[in-house]
Amino acid sequence: MNVRALRREFPALERRGAGPAPAYLDSACLSLVPRAVLRAVEEYYVRYPGCAGRSVHRFSEEVGRRYEESREEFARFFGRREPAGVVFLRNATEAINLVGQGLPWKRGERVLITDREHNSNLVVWQRLVRERGVRLEVLPLSEDGAFDGDRLESELARGVRLVSVFHTSNLDGRTLPLREIVERAHDRGAAVLADGCQAAPHRKVDLDRLGVDAYAVSAHKMLGPNGVGSLLASPAFLADLRPLVVGGETVEWTTVTDHALRPPPHRFEAGLQNYAGVLGAGEGLRFLERVGLERVEAHQLELNRRVGRALDGEPRLRVLGPQDARERPSVFAFTLDGVDPHDAALFLDEGHGVLVRSGMHCVHSFYAARGLAGNVRASFYLYNDADDAERLVAGLRELLDLVPARRASGTSAATRASPPRAARGRRRGAGSGGAAARSAPPRRRAGRGRAGSAAGSG
Ligand SMILES: Cc1ncc(COP(=O)(O)O)c(C=O)c1O
Repeated sequence: MNVRALRREFPALERRGAGPAPAYLDSACLSLVPRAVLRAVEEYYVRYPGCAGRSVHRFSEEVGRRYEESREEFARFFGRREPAGVVFLRNATEAINLVGQGLPWKRGERVLITDREHNSNLVVWQRLVRERGVRLEVLPLSEDGAFDGDRLESELARGVRLVSVFHTSNLDGRTLPLREIVERAHDRGAAVLADGCQAAPHRKVDLDRLGVDAYAVSAHKMLGPNGVGSLLASPAFLADLRPLVVGGETVEWTTVTDHALRPPPHRFEAGLQNYAGVLGAGEGLRFLERVGLERVEAHQLELNRRVGRALDGEPRLRVLGPQDARERPSVFAFTLDGVDPHDAALFLDEGHGVLVRSGMHCVHSFYAARGLAGNVRASFYLYNDADDAERLVAGLRELLDLVPARRASGTSAATRASPPRAARGRRRGAGSGGAAARSAPPRRRAGRGRAGSAAGSG
């Protein structure tokens, strides 16, 4: 893979302030967008700014055709034979909500999730518990995130309607054996919804081979624009779902008293759609296909290993999840004894131009259960290079050198849980932000502390 040439396709990597170009290591949150995607978005507004399927003129016809071509691209990319199984929505959160709120639940039916789901695959089920009498069961994973088939089996034996689990974890990058989960679930009559946000950008996902009933993704993690996601589901699964939103585009006809819904996927795509975004999202998938997901995966693993090797033996750095990078190729998540995660992220950005994520990564339930205040996550993607990896290592080494030895006890504020508000105050408060905060310029630190707090809650 020619990373140098590839990097030229991503304008955000050219952005320079006073220092060097950013070493962007936060693609698990949001990936950068290549020029081809930006062109596709712009083309919609410049060349065919129409309402698909409403007017008969050429703009409308062209955008309608291209919108459906994006649907076909999604189906092909994810190994679905039927483009009709691709529903375009705003993001994966909406896709999971469509399933949760759209299935016809009976009181007492069970949903099974793991103990480290993103809030987007948690809160919707908690609501169903309160409002529709659904029962939420939690499958614990081992401390380093490994899955236990026997535990799943015993949960399934108690009767489960839907298993809803991440495919790859946004916490530590570990991938669950989805095919095994689907086989076991189907044998017991349960359906499976997988949250594919962190898997789809990084590995070949063949949904027909996996046999999964429904799969949720967000385009902004796979080179696409913001505001586009998809639920990819089998026709039988979609047939059971009640649309979340109805109105224009969702109906064949109406009278003043009645209406007939269109067949899936159109019944789920209410109102004027985000055409520019969907066309851009399709272009993002084509870009990934041209590069090749196998190469993306191997490239990330190489960078991840490089960082791991360089920091191996550093006693104050603890890697979250599996210790072997092969089991988490795109993610290097860690705690630093004696350093608040947000302080570490600020230090890396301001001192080294290294952009990482810090906080609880929208999985508060995981940290709350362990009394942890969060951690730092570096995530790799196709445009990262060895320089990015080396800058991360250099930044972390410098940071650890700055941390006074007496604070490196493993029981400091960085690793101990504290109420988020108190943590915010500490980061803004003079002299209490730890070595990282002390070495950052005070004016920016104050402003960025608030941004860091926001990151902790999302
Ligand atoms: C595993 C996982 N699930 C769900 C989501 C939510 O995605 P979105 O905000 O695009 O709906 C994310 C986003 O970070 C994620 O990483």
